[in-house]
Order: sequence, then structure tokens, then C-alpha cells
Amino acid sequence: MTRKSRILGVGMYLPERSVPNTELEQIKSMETSDEWIQQRTGIQARHYVSTETGTDMAYHASKAAIERANLTADDIDFIIFATLSPDHYFPGNGCFLQDQLFGDRPVGALDVRNQCSGFLYSLTLADSLVKSGQYNTVLVVGAEVHSRGLDYTKKGRDVTVIFGDGAGAAIVGLAPDGHQGMLGHGLHSEGKYASALWLEYPNNAYDFFITHENLDAGLHYPKMQGRLVFKHATRRMVEVSNEVLTKTGKTVDDIDVVLFHQANLRINQMTASMLKVPEEKVVNTIQWTGNTTAATIPICMCEAVRQGKLKENDLVLLCGFGAGFTWGASLLYW
Ligand code: ACO
Repeated sequence: MTRKSRILGVGMYLPERSVPNTELEQIKSMETSDEWIQQRTGIQARHYVSTETGTDMAYHASKAAIERANLTADDIDFIIFATLSPDHYFPGNGCFLQDQLFGDRPVGALDVRNQCSGFLYSLTLADSLVKSGQYNTVLVVGAEVHSRGLDYTKKGRDVTVIFGDGAGAAIVGLAPDGHQGMLGHGLHSEGKYASALWLEYPNNAYDFFITHENLDAGLHYPKMQGRLVFKHATRRMVEVSNEVLTKTGKTVDDIDVVLFHQANLRINQMTASMLKVPEEKVVNTIQWTGNTTAATIPICMCEAVRQGKLKENDLVLLCGFGAGFTWGASLLYW
């Protein structure tokens, strides 16, 4: 019999401290305003960690997802951890999470580095691992600590105002008989735009890992060509959503809920309008989370469940775009 996979449970974690735009407004070196941030991005607040690491947040989100799936940690066969802001350069966060969740049980752990598309890449892989019979139950988790690595000056304000910290997790497991589970995915990358949204230093590509001059120049902070990213994000998200719909024989009208990556509310409004998806089918969280990168889509799933918008057997479109450039979409039955 053909194996199918579905999402069995989701969980999220946001640090306690919510940072409203008005708090960023108080940082004189940033020269930003609540009005500018809300108008251009739709963001009102984001959360920042206090003492938590990305792995700590992932642990809490994973525990919640495992519980929602009516499972225990012993049921998890494999970890996929997506993040662009790992606790350490190496080893990856997956290993640290394995220790926190499983201790002496040596569950395999894979780190995925696909930025805002990280969760979609991970979900696609988890689907394949379950369908192939390699594993029965895979933990897919995204977590980001952005706040410790942002440039709180005018130079970095475009990027700084959009990012927030948080974690989201999903348990991917075998779909029961009669449930159609995950239908299909589309994943893409276009590396010629790598430097349009990147963190250049430290690196192993040039002569030095990082120099004092690099640090003084702020080259260890993320840099983004916002307008270019915006333009590509809307075009590619529409394209890949249509690709997945065509591949699975579905239409926009069949979709019950749409969960976009949350980088800018304007991107999502434009993408929904280009896809002809009515606003009431879209759940956004960016207003109070900012862009939590790989954690975003599972956080959106949690919020959609909380709002009662995501129900058993609903057809859900997930779609995102980010650094790389990378982008993707997944279509699945809830
Ligand atoms: N506060 C006040 N002014 C600002 C800020 C700020 N936070 N940021 C930029 N500005 C100023 C600029 O300096 C510029 O001023 P000038 O006209 O005097 O030169 C003006 O606002 C316009 O700047 P733009 O960068 O052109 O502003 P834009 O309307 O494009 O908005 C934004 C910037 C919000 C970043 C937008 O371009 C965007 O959302 N881009 C896409 C982001 C995205 O999708 N990222 C992908 C995911 S992230 C990931 O994968 C890691």
C-alpha cells in the first residue's frame, strides 16, 4: 500500500519580551518610526529573546508539537532543524536539540540552511522520508534568534525592523487510511542573487574568516536589497503556488487556507491578490511576530489552528521566499 504522510501536530514558542515599533523608535541611532514600519511592512511588534538560545526555543516548540500530535518524544525517529541563525557555527542546532529532547537516544539530526524557505525544504524532505519508509515520524523545526545579530543603526534599519525571534515545529508522520495527506511540493533556488540578501562575514571564502576592519564596517550584519527581494518574492511565490496546484490537479478555488511566509504584509497581500485568493483564506502573523524566518510557517499553522481557521481535511497552501534566493510551496490536507 502507498504510504502517505501528514502533519500530526504543530507547536510554537515566542520569547516573552514583545518589542513594539515604538521601542525601536527610541533607539536614536536607527532613525526609524512606528509609522514607517507599519506602512511599509505591516509589522507592529516582534519578540526578542532574553536568555534563550534557538535550540531552547526549538525544544519548547517541539514539545508542544509532540503533545498536540498525541505522541511522546520516544516516537520521534528523526530531526530536521531549519535555521539561518544557529547557536554555533558548528555543529548544527539539530545535535543540540537531540540532546535536549532525547538525551542518550541517538536520534539522527539534520540541519537545513535555506533561510525563509527552510521550513518548506524541510517539510518536503520529511514527507519523502516518511513516504519512502525510511522513518515513521519526523520532527521538523525552525527556530531563529535574530535579535542578537542585527545592526541597530540607520545602516541596518531596513533589515532590523522586519526580523523577530521565535520557533515553530511540526510532526510529520504516517497519514491514516483515507486521509490524503501531503499532495506535492515545489522547491527552487537562484544563487545569482545570493548577495542581494546575505550575511557576508564571517566566511571561509576570502583570505580571512573576519578582520577587525570587517567588524568595524559592520559586515557581520545581514544586508538586503529590499526592493529587489520584494519584486522577486511576489513573482516567485505566485509562480511556485501555481506550479504546485497544476502538479496536484487542484485549483485556487479548492484551497481552504493559505499560509505565506511572513516577511512583509504587503508582499502577502500582493501575492494573494495575484493568485486571486480571497483575504479571509489567508492567515498572517507578521503584525506581532515580524519575520521569524524558518520558524514562520509553523508559527502561522499554530495561529491558524488557534483561530479555528485550520480544520481536519482542509486543503492548505504553504508558500515562502527568502535569501538564496530560495523559494517553495507545499499543498497538503490538514
Ligand atoms: N525606518 C525608516 N526609514 C527607512 C527604514 C526604516 N526601518 N528602512 C529604510 N528606510 C528608508 C530608506 O533609507 C529609504 O530612504 P531614502 O528614500 O531617503 O533613501 C526609504 O526608506 C525607502 O527605502 P526602501 O529600502 O526602498 O524601502 P522599501 O519600501 O523597499 O521597504 C523593506 C523596505 C520593508 C525592507 C522592503 O523592501 C521589503 O520588505 N523587502 C522584502 C523583504 C523580504 O521579503 N525578505 C525576504 C525574507 S528575509 C530572509 O530570507 C532572510
